Amino acid sequence: MKKRSILVCRAVFPDIVDRLREHFEVETNEADVVWTREELIARLQGKAGVFITGTQPIDAALLDACPELKAVCSMAVGYNNVDLPACTARGVLVSNAPDVLTETTADFGFALMMATARRIAESEHFLRRGEWTKWSVEGFAGSDVHGATLGVLGMGRIGQAIARRGAHGFRMKVLYHNRSRLEPAIEADLGARYVDKATLLRETDHLVIVVPYSPASHHLVGAAELAQMKPTATLTNIARGGIVDDAALAEALRERRIAAAGLDVFEGEPSVHPGLLAVPNVVLTPHIASASLPTRRAMANLAIDNLMAALGVGPSAGRPPSALNPQVLG
Ligand code: 8YV
Repeated sequence: MKKRSILVCRAVFPDIVDRLREHFEVETNEADVVWTREELIARLQGKAGVFITGTQPIDAALLDACPELKAVCSMAVGYNNVDLPACTARGVLVSNAPDVLTETTADFGFALMMATARRIAESEHFLRRGEWTKWSVEGFAGSDVHGATLGVLGMGRIGQAIARRGAHGFRMKVLYHNRSRLEPAIEADLGARYVDKATLLRETDHLVIVVPYSPASHHLVGAAELAQMKPTATLTNIARGGIVDDAALAEALRERRIAAAGLDVFEGEPSVHPGLLAVPNVVLTPHIASASLPTRRAMANLAIDNLMAALGVGPSAGRPPSALNPQVLG
């Protein structure tokens, strides 16, 4: 019997992609070209499944142009690039990659928050420019992390892992705001207190944003929210571009209405708002919060587990481990 075909959209660890070859014809993208939508549609012709990352948009029109597609499996936990209802309506299984990246992403969020509070990038740039001619008492004096108030906006798996680091590792007071409140036992374990959004913004020293992107979270933090924060506060975004209004943030940083920001995600990335590139009090990283080698490998393996299971092969055939719409498999 002829093997079904799979498309792997970006360059992915070849030894992991090889797991697919026993069961499928596999088209890869070893050159790691970012395909246009038209190229993606052309390459998806005749494909039963596709391995995506968090950046390929999968919408109703694309699905209609690729009627043989049965499974869309992403190595990202966030799936705002996939129109899930459109996939479900067409019987296309969708999976994401939760859990395997939680601790690595929380490590990075914490590191970015610390780098922001302690002005690590700003002071390194100063040193590299050759401007370090004498030590000074207030040189690059930032704010403390230990004992400060950590504010977590979005208390899912990654938010909880950040709260745990703050409460147990750095004796921080932890406040959080989320669509729904956690169980009291989980709150107690994390040492976290639920507050409304205004209280979170007003009382937080270091705000970390970890909410998923959706139309409801678009510009959740804009000029009005930034105005409620302390002038000494920092803001760290490791969630998605578009949750923070980057233009308003650049303006707040320029006017020192908040002290500093740490950003791993941007509106319209990989473009970065010029106002953010122009201010010194921001740490900028290129969407790498989950980028440890073991974690990126685990994310890729999970996407492939899902792909095989969705297409009825392998040890979990018919039961993809992290399906978002398992109902399509009946
Ligand atoms: C991914 C992420 O690396 O998982 C997510 O949602 O944002 C990152 O961990 C990125 O989306 C590429 O797949």
